[in-house]
Amino acid sequence: MAKDPRRIETRVAQAGRDHARSDGAVNPPVHHASTLIIDHVEDLYGEAKRTYALDGMSVHEALKEALIAVEGGAGATLAPSGLAACTLALLACVREGGEALVTDSVYKPTRRFCDRMLKRLGVRTRYYDPGIGAGIAELITDATCAVFLESPGSLTFEVQDVPAIAAAARARDAATIIDNTWSAGVYFKPFAHGIDLSIQALTKYQGGHSDLLVGAVLARSKDWQARVFAAAKELGLGVAPDDAYLALRGMRTMLARLSQQSASALKIAQWLETRAEVARVIHPALESHRDHALWRRDFSGASALFGFVLRPCAPEKLKAMLEGFSVLKMGFSWGGYESLIVPCSEQLVRTARPWREEGELIRLSVGLEHPDDLLADLEAGLARLA
Ligand SMILES: Cc1ncc(COP(=O)(O)O)c(C=O)c1O
Repeated sequence: MAKDPRRIETRVAQAGRDHARSDGAVNPPVHHASTLIIDHVEDLYGEAKRTYALDGMSVHEALKEALIAVEGGAGATLAPSGLAACTLALLACVREGGEALVTDSVYKPTRRFCDRMLKRLGVRTRYYDPGIGAGIAELITDATCAVFLESPGSLTFEVQDVPAIAAAARARDAATIIDNTWSAGVYFKPFAHGIDLSIQALTKYQGGHSDLLVGAVLARSKDWQARVFAAAKELGLGVAPDDAYLALRGMRTMLARLSQQSASALKIAQWLETRAEVARVIHPALESHRDHALWRRDFSGASALFGFVLRPCAPEKLKAMLEGFSVLKMGFSWGGYESLIVPCSEQLVRTARPWREEGELIRLSVGLEHPDDLLADLEAGLARLA
């Protein structure tokens, strides 16, 4: 398909708006459907026509078109959550007796899937240092089916050398999968860097309102798209039409939300760097970030999720800080219009590159509130550590 020369704002406003499909309305219809009526016997069997709603209705097609308009690729497959998109992509690539190489910075439920389900299916997982870069070549064997990246890691924010890893994997015919949720597909373009499959948890920035769970796997080529779509069909994965509609609706305003949230997040990260209570701020757009040069090279921006490490403090002080906020709330997701804060040290699992920070790791998802109100809330919170 020819590349759309228009800018991303225009593409995301236009994508999936086939007026014939929507009875003249701006937005696509939401069909609550399982059964599709088929008029001709010759259309009942065979692959040519859609025969069941699980294959996707207009609203699903429109959402996929919007995802491709943002991130590129030859196709997209929807999944009932971001985690289901991660597991779908892995299942589409692995085989019994094979192995997956997975970044040590991976989202913990993806790790759980590898350690339990893939293991039961006879697939071995080895975790690698997210900073490995071209060194991944030494880990790839004939058994390696897939190399899984998450960049930046959604708790510890290491930025990976994606082109180097993708090139090494391609040289050995291993598939590359990246969880690209942090960039929302806006700030990082995996297919331009040689990746085969890109995952988006649409639950986060695309949805943007913390009221849905949807995921997607985008594919570099038609072949990869066919493989993932077939796996989703074999697994029986579907997405409710209302959720697909909400995800698409969220995408129409995503760029505006992202730019405001990202600017607030950077302002807050810079402020946190000046605070004595904070040992380290982990935001890829800060020059102090270990992988800042990689981020500058490969990303066009930063989203609004980042971390910071507190100086060691008593657990009751930490509890007082976290429970006393007025604007910030504690919660495990991110990317919504509302700011969230969560202590993360307890959920860190590292086996390839140990995490050596002593103080608590805090993750902040910055929302659309005024940044000065968030700063005031944080300032009062840090004072509770004293
Ligand atoms: C990086 C990353 N990938 C995937 C997911 C899973 O998304 P969902 O909550 O839609 O299952 C999350 C959720 O927090 C995440 O942080």
